[in-house]
Amino acid sequence: MNYSKENNTKEYFISEFHKHFDGTPRIFRAPARINLIGGHTDYNEGFVLPVLLERYTTVAIAPRDDNELHIWSENMNELLTFSMDNLKPRGIWSDYIVGVVKELIEENFLFSGANVCIMSEIPIGGGLSSSAAVEVAIANGILSLVGDSMDKCDIARVCQRAENKFVGMQSGIMDQFVIIHGKEKHALFLDCRSLEFEHIPLLTNNIRIVVCNTKIKHELAASAYNERKAECQEGVRLFKGICPGINALRDVSLRRLTELKNTLPEVIRKRCYHVVSENERVIKSVKALKQNQYAVLGQLINESHDSLRDNYEVSCHELNTMVDIARSLPGVLGSRLTGGGFGGCTVNLVESEHVDNFIREISSRYEEKTGLQPEIYISEPVGGAYELV
Ligand code: GLA
Repeated sequence: MNYSKENNTKEYFISEFHKHFDGTPRIFRAPARINLIGGHTDYNEGFVLPVLLERYTTVAIAPRDDNELHIWSENMNELLTFSMDNLKPRGIWSDYIVGVVKELIEENFLFSGANVCIMSEIPIGGGLSSSAAVEVAIANGILSLVGDSMDKCDIARVCQRAENKFVGMQSGIMDQFVIIHGKEKHALFLDCRSLEFEHIPLLTNNIRIVVCNTKIKHELAASAYNERKAECQEGVRLFKGICPGINALRDVSLRRLTELKNTLPEVIRKRCYHVVSENERVIKSVKALKQNQYAVLGQLINESHDSLRDNYEVSCHELNTMVDIARSLPGVLGSRLTGGGFGGCTVNLVESEHVDNFIREISSRYEEKTGLQPEIYISEPVGGAYELV
């Protein structure tokens, strides 16, 4: 689903809602996120540098008074109903939404039910955080029904908890946080420990951020993701035995890691090496952006992918193929997988004058090599989640 200018309006979303429900809905939107650099650092209390892409999940929501939640998903073409007294995971798409409702109820945001219509143009399982987008949009929608507000960081935390506890994906805070706090024409430099952040201007006249979807969705992504997190925690446990001050991989420097590397099992050492070096790359990327050194940023992006591929082992054949093709094309400063990995999208830094050729070449060469037709998305970084009024 990709909304054209004509149907990207409040009237359109209300009319879609009225195909399934009565009442006057309010409309909440949340964009997709692309992480420029900082892969798998967020749950290690490290640094990330995401931007937001102009593709949205839209939630139309109106109150009910019978303590029921009725959710229509346009993408799934399915209506599901829930009693608010018995909200349990079903192992399907609705868990992201119901999980947020449950977390908000536990925070004492009480309401008597809702009709919800979800319409998303963010590819599901594409590594652009369709899940965090729907979580944030629904959280804002429910808060509007309750007539209450919540601190933005707390909304991000509620959504993250829903994903951790209800969906069972041990994801970090990056996606929800940037979807709420992102700013037009800026990247967001976030310290995932303190949640301090800085908006970093992106000069996108000469450089474009081009996202390429491999169209591969890895079935085991959630379990492999949780396994990586457990390996990082094991690294922390081993480090702590030697240096008690270490509470997360964020606290480990490259120098310390090199000194202690022989005390770690091979796999744990590789995972730690990725996270520790990736945190350094994020810091260097912010510096490069502030000095308009896009070639330096591109090089760091390349190094990030290579480390995700070789040390963190979260890439796959199609992502590597897409990245290799991109790097062979003129005007490409950097290319890496974005998101959790095992499929989904790559993010590419491309000089504007080469973008048309890039799209043409990457589409045909990727299809030639894999038999899959990629999807390409380009946009200026947009602002965070909002109500369409
Ligand atoms: C997924 C998770 C994020 C983050 C990325 C990897 O998108 O939801 O929290 O860990 O993977 O950087």
